[in-house]
Amino acid sequence: MRISVKTFLPLLTGGLFLFCAAARADEGMWLPMFLKQNEARMQELGFKLTAEDVYDVNASSLKDAVVIFGGGCTGEVVSPQGLVFTNHHCGYGYIQEHSSLEHDYLTDGFWAESLRDELPCPGLKVRFLKEMRDVSEVMLAGLERNDDGTPVAENVRRDSIDARSRRLMKEAAQGEEIRVVPFYYGNQYFLFVYEVYEDVRLVGAPPSNIGKFGGDTDNWMFPRHTGDFSVFRIYADTANRPAPYSPENKPYSPKRYFKIDLRGCEEGDFTMVIGYPGRTQEYLSSYGVEQVLNQEDPMRIEARTLRLEVIKAAMNRDAKTRIQYAAKAASIANGWKKWIGEAKGIERLDVVGSKREYEKLFGEWTATPEGAAYASVLPALQEAYEGFGAVQGEAIVFQEYVLAPEAVRFAYSFKALCEAAEKAASGEEGAVEKFAEILRKRQTAAEDFYKNYNPEVDREIFEKMAARQAEKSSAAVPDPSQINLFYTKSVFTQPQKMLALLQDFKPAQRKTILNDPLYRYALSVYNRYITHTVPAVALYRRQIDSLQRVYMRGQMEMQKSSGPETFYPDANFTMRVAYGQVNGFSPSDALVCKPYTTLKGIMEKENPDIYDYVVEERLKELYRNADYGRYANKKGEMPVAFIGTNHTTGGNSGSPVLNAEGNLVGINFDRNWEGTMSDIRYDAQMCRNIMLDIRYCLFIIDKFAGARRLIDELEFVEN
Ligand code: ARG
Ligand code: ASP
Repeated sequence: MRISVKTFLPLLTGGLFLFCAAARADEGMWLPMFLKQNEARMQELGFKLTAEDVYDVNASSLKDAVVIFGGGCTGEVVSPQGLVFTNHHCGYGYIQEHSSLEHDYLTDGFWAESLRDELPCPGLKVRFLKEMRDVSEVMLAGLERNDDGTPVAENVRRDSIDARSRRLMKEAAQGEEIRVVPFYYGNQYFLFVYEVYEDVRLVGAPPSNIGKFGGDTDNWMFPRHTGDFSVFRIYADTANRPAPYSPENKPYSPKRYFKIDLRGCEEGDFTMVIGYPGRTQEYLSSYGVEQVLNQEDPMRIEARTLRLEVIKAAMNRDAKTRIQYAAKAASIANGWKKWIGEAKGIERLDVVGSKREYEKLFGEWTATPEGAAYASVLPALQEAYEGFGAVQGEAIVFQEYVLAPEAVRFAYSFKALCEAAEKAASGEEGAVEKFAEILRKRQTAAEDFYKNYNPEVDREIFEKMAARQAEKSSAAVPDPSQINLFYTKSVFTQPQKMLALLQDFKPAQRKTILNDPLYRYALSVYNRYITHTVPAVALYRRQIDSLQRVYMRGQMEMQKSSGPETFYPDANFTMRVAYGQVNGFSPSDALVCKPYTTLKGIMEKENPDIYDYVVEERLKELYRNADYGRYANKKGEMPVAFIGTNHTTGGNSGSPVLNAEGNLVGINFDRNWEGTMSDIRYDAQMCRNIMLDIRYCLFIIDKFAGARRLIDELEFVEN
């Protein structure tokens, strides 16, 4: 079926925000299906291909080599045998799963010597986009007005949309998955068909001191020297179809794979990123931005600052704790650091002020007959956000304060076991088996949990958070004697006792859990959250979403007549294309950043005493001998990372970075800290995406790890 671009254009072609049209030059995350509208601009920047080369439902195109990797990353196929590149931080969990004290792949790296040595990763899936389709008509028919002309009630609309998308999703064939996704806050709906491969194996990963070099210290920053990549392979059945893991499966033979260009990119060169950006909010009202700036970001930052202080101090005191808390600290710090950068960026650009100005124009437009239908939407949004603040505050307190001590969530996770025990004790049909099954899961969960748990650290977190929580929330906060009880009497904070209890746990023993002080506390805080906070937040969320849908449409209508610029839809974890150029930037007064880093910078950062900056002898030796083979740049340097003006966000990690000819030159992995407000407002001056130079990735595979068999299956473009 040929899909027409025309159906989409009437809605898309409006102007963008008038006041900053110039600065918005090449921002945007574009739907590949409608890339025609960007083609001329892309070619002006150097792109040598056409929109159809990127996305064509009738022929093989670049999009066929891009996958959703796992739950929230992107990956790309790079060989005729289904080899996939993604980030180290995207493969992290799977590398960790295969790591043990004897084979610590996380620390030492891993390179499968043959196909037989590639390691299955249960639960890991990759998804190929087969096609996308506009289903707005099917989804939205009759949902604007009732027969008598009154507007359709929001709850009726919601229920119909749920039912309709469920119906569409059911049409998925074997091995396929269908997702129906709202665009422009539900003004449009698109359907995406994915082919899902579930036998994906770990092929290679560099040691963490390469794959995570710079750790949290360098995270969200440039200059950057992280070799953030890992290598997987897709397997398929003998007919090349998706299939569950089987030793009989064969390496997948892809429709398309990327060729690798070893000539690299220089300042000013065209680049394009195809991937799965997760979430942006470019069309919020000033009230929405204020909510992020004045409440969400500061509350979360404050809570995590406290939590990280305790964890970091404990990690510095003790090597075991350092290992136990490394991954946790990384994930807590990732959001923390991003929000700090985001809030600063919103302030610096005075996003609230400029949105207010824009809203004034919008208000003037709604006073004209054309815009009259939208006259009440901004005042209604303002009112909704006023009410939302208080309930949202409660939700954040729960997520960032109440759940900061890990024992609380862990204790609550035993609720299902207690309930199953209750039923088993009452002799209900099949209940004993169910209980045994849940118990087994809890036993594994407990072992995993305690492996990386230190009750002393957790207690300190509890005490620190509780002391601050009282001033933020109306909910009761445990006093010091209660907290003392949690960490002296509760079975949940005593690993040995708990593991022993679970070993031969009988339904009658549920009383031990039911009477446990920490379990009772967890139950009460969760109950309050679930029955009180969640519904209140949902009520406002739905109201705001509905208003935002109307406001979005209003914004598009207002600017329909005023310019050639186009609204790109907010990110929603569907495939997008971002394009731009390799470009340095100036993070602050007097500082100018070049657009790329080299191996020399790794040697400069080296510090054997600081975990994040350890460099292995083997890498130093390659550096000393300048043994870079075909991977050096023209100047003879070993490039590591580079930056550009491609508009990306979380989820774009692992995305292929392509040059003007559509060949692979890098792997996207991060953004610069000064540009993290791009999820709310993109600034061409300040926002840069950070990409791993593909030549560093290959240098590590080839020269550092000696994994020649992988190099041999790639296809290169070079002089
Ligand atoms: N900031 C990057 C992203 O948002 C990388 C995160 C992983 N690295 C880390 N040090 N926590 O995903
Ligand atoms: N590091 C992010 C990711 O994992 C990318 C970003 O936020 O720019 O997707």
